[in-house]
Amino acid sequence: MSDLINLFRTCPVTGLKVDRNAENLIKVNAVVAVVFLLFGVIAAVGILLTRWQIFHFLSPEMYYRFVTFHGLDMLIFFIIFFEMAILYFAGPILLNSKLPAPGLGWLSFGLMVIGSVLVNVMVYAGKADVMFTSYPPLKADPLYYVGIILFAVGALIVCILFLATLVVAKKNKTYEGSIPLVVFGALTACIIAIITLIHGALIFIPTLLWSMDLMPMDAEVYRLMFWALGHSSQQINVAAMVSVWYLLAGITVGGVVLNEKISRMAFVLYILFISMASAHHLLVDPGWGPAWKIWNTSYAMYLAVLASMVHGFTVPGGIEVGQRLRGFKNGLFEWLSKAPWSDPGFSGMMLSLVIFGFMGGITGVTIGTEQINIISHNTMRIPGHFHTTVVGGTALAFMAVSYYVFPLIFKKRVAFWGMAKFQPYFFGFGIAIMSMGMTFLGTMGVPRRHWDSTFSQSPFQPAFPDTINLFQAVMGIGGLLAAAGALMFITIAVVTVFFGKPFTADSIKKGESGIPQGVLKLPAQSHTGGNVEQIHKDGAKGTVVLAFVFLVCFVLYYFVNWKMLASIWKVG
Ligand code: HEM
Repeated sequence: MSDLINLFRTCPVTGLKVDRNAENLIKVNAVVAVVFLLFGVIAAVGILLTRWQIFHFLSPEMYYRFVTFHGLDMLIFFIIFFEMAILYFAGPILLNSKLPAPGLGWLSFGLMVIGSVLVNVMVYAGKADVMFTSYPPLKADPLYYVGIILFAVGALIVCILFLATLVVAKKNKTYEGSIPLVVFGALTACIIAIITLIHGALIFIPTLLWSMDLMPMDAEVYRLMFWALGHSSQQINVAAMVSVWYLLAGITVGGVVLNEKISRMAFVLYILFISMASAHHLLVDPGWGPAWKIWNTSYAMYLAVLASMVHGFTVPGGIEVGQRLRGFKNGLFEWLSKAPWSDPGFSGMMLSLVIFGFMGGITGVTIGTEQINIISHNTMRIPGHFHTTVVGGTALAFMAVSYYVFPLIFKKRVAFWGMAKFQPYFFGFGIAIMSMGMTFLGTMGVPRRHWDSTFSQSPFQPAFPDTINLFQAVMGIGGLLAAAGALMFITIAVVTVFFGKPFTADSIKKGESGIPQGVLKLPAQSHTGGNVEQIHKDGAKGTVVLAFVFLVCFVLYYFVNWKMLASIWKVG
């Protein structure tokens, strides 16, 4: 009995039983994620000030080393360590269950740390200037691939532990009915992660052997298998991000789930169709025929896009209905104007939704079209697109949820609370501005992953218009704002975790600073009363208007791109 008491504590806000092993694993994974975020930001500033031609900061060699560091530390290590923390939260904690085999959790954490450190050391030593895609014939030291494999094995163990937690929770009847939607989203992320990691093993083990000169490697096969890993892993990010949106919608403003079945079906669409969408990375590869490319990147891929559009509607729609139930029911947008915009958990989630949905969604579907891809492939439009999805979307959502993790899991009040209120705006607007700069640069033909946009040592001079100087400045200013926003977050996180003031039931009662409003007073998660039925019947009118604004923007952007293609590619 006393063992059980020691194993769990009860959260004073949510009433959930918190398994201490899971809690400690959340803490260490989140802390390591923030360390990699710091490394990634330092590298980001280096490459940003190199691509901004008036600074042209790094040498060619260092530019490619920093690009490799930045891609790996941000996209792989920061994001995946954070996702591991999410799995430990969505499994044992949200299901009120114990974490089976915590020793395995620590083993996987150890493997992931050793793997990521090994990769970083190899890059730092100049033995792996291959960028995160490591396309052959670029070859790294075998230890680089060993590091990636160790990291992936560690992550796989965490996924298996998450599945085992679901079994234990079901057996011990720690929840009623089906698993909650947020856990379902995390399960989606976990299933896609397992598919992704299997593809990873299928490609990185042969690549390790190739790097040791033990077998040949076909560059085209590598690219196909790599993107089965590389793109699916983006869908893990999307599923994890959407789960965070649902969670934050509930705890910040009592957002409701408009329709459980539809939201769950949308998660299932991710699992079924996302691997196909990986093909959009290969649209200009000569090895694959047009039928294969068109099938994989249009009809089937749009089912995965549909899933994101469903969540992009149901999350704000649920927030709107939740706000209307709280009394903000005047006009179309009172639910938005009276929302808690100074709560970084809420503002970060909303900015993440808008940047991901509007900017990332529209640009992604457009450049993923086979014909339009021919004018965007390998230009700055590509980083312009994915900085709105994985950075403005996923990374910002992870920052937003951290403001609730600090009090609820680390039991600390958020340090520099005044700064925390502004942090999501700095990061979100910075990334949005930087991505717009990158997108315009790419539209004018400026290549990505290129040290010198002026091609000064090239025998051919590209015909770039002078406006690229303006858009380099837009990219640079936006990027510096975003880097400042990321550093603000890191400072807040480090000071909160290591030196923060304790978060206690008493501090909630006194309404002390550093506690988000959703924690001070958790909004009602279910509603009763006369007006509930009417509000549900009225639906989310404001969100419907916003959805139409989205569709108009999408049609315009898509049309303009076909027009550009027609003016560049004069057939006949
Ligand atoms: C903190 C603000 C950030 C800034 C200022 C920034 C800036 C940049 C720049 C300038 C590039 C190079 C573009 C090129 O020359 O081709 C780049 C590439 C990239 N960034 Fe970021 N970034 C930031 C955050 C992030 C985050 C949080 C992630 C992931 C979660 C990320 C993922 C990537 C990836 C995957 C690449 C491509 C690397 C490659 O081509 O191999 N970035 N970023």
